[in-house]
Amino acid sequence: MAGKDGMVRMVLVLVLVLTCWMQVIAAANTTNVTTCSFSAVYAFGDSLIDVGNAIAAFPNQFAYAEESPNGVSWPSHSADRMSDGKLLVDFISFGGTLGPTYPWFRSIATDLEFGTNFGCAGATAENQTEDWTPDSGFNTPFSLDIQLQWLRRYKVRLEYYYNQTWVNQSLPEISTLNTSVYMVQAGFQDYFFPLYYKNSTTKKLLKRVPKVVSAISDMLEGLADFGATAVFVVNVPPIGCFPALLTVYPKSSDKYDSYGCLKSINNISTTHNAALEEQVISLRSKYPNVTYYLLDFYSAYTDILADPAAYNITETLKACCGSGGSYNFNKEVTCSEVGKVGNQQVNLTVSTCSNPKAYLSWDGIHPSHAANRAAATDFFNGKHITPSGFGCVVNTTQFS
Ligand SMILES: *[C@@H]1O[C@H](CO)[C@@H](O)[C@H](O)[C@H]1NC(C)=O
Ligand SMILES: *[C@@H]1O[C@H](CO)[C@@H](O)[C@H](O)[C@H]1NC(C)=O
Ligand SMILES: *[C@@H]1O[C@H](CO)[C@@H](O)[C@H](O)[C@H]1NC(C)=O
Ligand SMILES: *[C@@H]1O[C@H](CO)[C@@H](O)[C@H](O)[C@H]1NC(C)=O
Ligand SMILES: *[C@@H]1O[C@H](CO)[C@@H](O)[C@H](O)[C@H]1NC(C)=O
Ligand SMILES: *[C@@H]1O[C@H](CO)[C@@H](O)[C@H](O)[C@H]1NC(C)=O
Ligand SMILES: *[C@@H]1O[C@H](CO)[C@@H](O)[C@H](O)[C@H]1NC(C)=O
Ligand SMILES: *[C@@H]1O[C@H](CO)[C@@H](O)[C@H](O)[C@H]1NC(C)=O
Ligand SMILES: *[C@@H]1O[C@H](CO)[C@@H](O)[C@H](O)[C@H]1NC(C)=O
Ligand SMILES: *[C@@H]1O[C@H](CO)[C@@H](O)[C@H](O)[C@H]1NC(C)=O
Repeated sequence: MAGKDGMVRMVLVLVLVLTCWMQVIAAANTTNVTTCSFSAVYAFGDSLIDVGNAIAAFPNQFAYAEESPNGVSWPSHSADRMSDGKLLVDFISFGGTLGPTYPWFRSIATDLEFGTNFGCAGATAENQTEDWTPDSGFNTPFSLDIQLQWLRRYKVRLEYYYNQTWVNQSLPEISTLNTSVYMVQAGFQDYFFPLYYKNSTTKKLLKRVPKVVSAISDMLEGLADFGATAVFVVNVPPIGCFPALLTVYPKSSDKYDSYGCLKSINNISTTHNAALEEQVISLRSKYPNVTYYLLDFYSAYTDILADPAAYNITETLKACCGSGGSYNFNKEVTCSEVGKVGNQQVNLTVSTCSNPKAYLSWDGIHPSHAANRAAATDFFNGKHITPSGFGCVVNTTQFS
């Protein structure tokens, strides 16, 4: 019996030694990386980041955002987003805080504890001033300069109301404003819609790149002056791969790249992104107290085009919610609309593709939940982001 006890003890000691040794190895490997914990996320930009401002400001124009099938991949949540599910900002928020960002314009059941979202569909990076002639079909008046003014206004109100006992709303501590994340995802609106409505050309838009980048840069400087210390700058995706533009710009095959995307349109994205990167690099030396992270959405998207199977994506160039043609997109009847395509009655208010998570594009215009999820996974894992990683970790396998 004693022998058996001794054996048990020896095994236990061995297990203990082994466990300690493994812990030492683990500690050495993790180099003190902490779990991501952002105080709050403040978001700025266009429809790629808007979680409900556009529909609050223009309920008729943007009613579709709240209607089926938008939001199908995120059940039990009113969509308010141009997506089947979550946006990149949602994954960033859920990854680093305890909840999503709520739109600045929402008055009912709003919760600003984990940040505020000032982004608005239709918002250009460039100022929407009276003398600026919009050459796209529809822009909202809420360009980045206005969104920055809202942020300043928010701070004034926060200071005023924070300690008022009658204000029964949970708000972030004023001191966390300097330690929160400020996320800017803009420029898409400035390029995509002038092309989609054919009011502009690639040549004209290439000339606009410096102005668009300069407007984003003004925003990034404004955030530094505001006191931000962590700014996430998202670049623009390869819009020449978006089903809507592939449909309205049918071109001869020599104008397509190896993924089937429109080369000259993607050149706008890459030209913009190169100029944006240059600006971010110079802002890093101008504002040493601010960490400007560059989130390379373009490359994250291109990775999926290069190896869709690795992301469980089967359709890279077709819209999930759409109707007809090579790209399952038709300008006459877009997602959540009802109408005629030729002689065919089309109803896109309910039906959609059978598996939205297998598509890179949601409605032909906006990236899908799956695309946003893949990009967020990359960024949290230190891929396609400079500086490399947020200095913290998130278990991205739990992203749903
Ligand atoms: C990890 O943290 C400990 C204690 O804070 C510190 O002594 C050590 O130098 C840190 N290691 C690294 C790799 O940063
Ligand atoms: C853009 O072009 C369309 C026709 O292609 C026209 O109906 C629309 O008014 C134009 N928009 C602007 C802002 O010029
Ligand atoms: C855009 O508007 C802001 C104020 O809202 C102003 O400071 C800035 O100079 C304007 N930018 C341009 C290019 O006009
Ligand atoms: C709120 O009250 C606390 C405690 O009195 C104080 O430390 C803090 O500065 C106040 N905050 C604001 C924004 O007035
Ligand atoms: C504030 O809200 C909480 C729950 O949301 C409630 O229990 C509390 O009574 C409210 N306080 C006031 C002053 O209305
Ligand atoms: C936050 O940053 C602003 C601007 O740099 C500065 O004026 C303010 O003192 C900072 N606040 C805190 C609490 O660090
Ligand atoms: C992109 O556009 C720029 C500016 O017009 C041009 O110099 C460059 O050759 C283009 N690149 C491609 C790959 O078409
Ligand atoms: C940078 O941060 C340091 C330490 O918090 C502060 O003393 C300094 O004023 C800040 N510089 C700028 C330009 O905000
Ligand atoms: C792809 O699907 C498989 C099987 O459901 C799953 O194990 C894997 O995590 C998925 N990969 C991604 C990137 O979602
Ligand atoms: C579209 O289809 C849905 C679901 O079948 C239906 O409820 C709705 O009435 C249809 N709309 C039109 C205009 O036919």
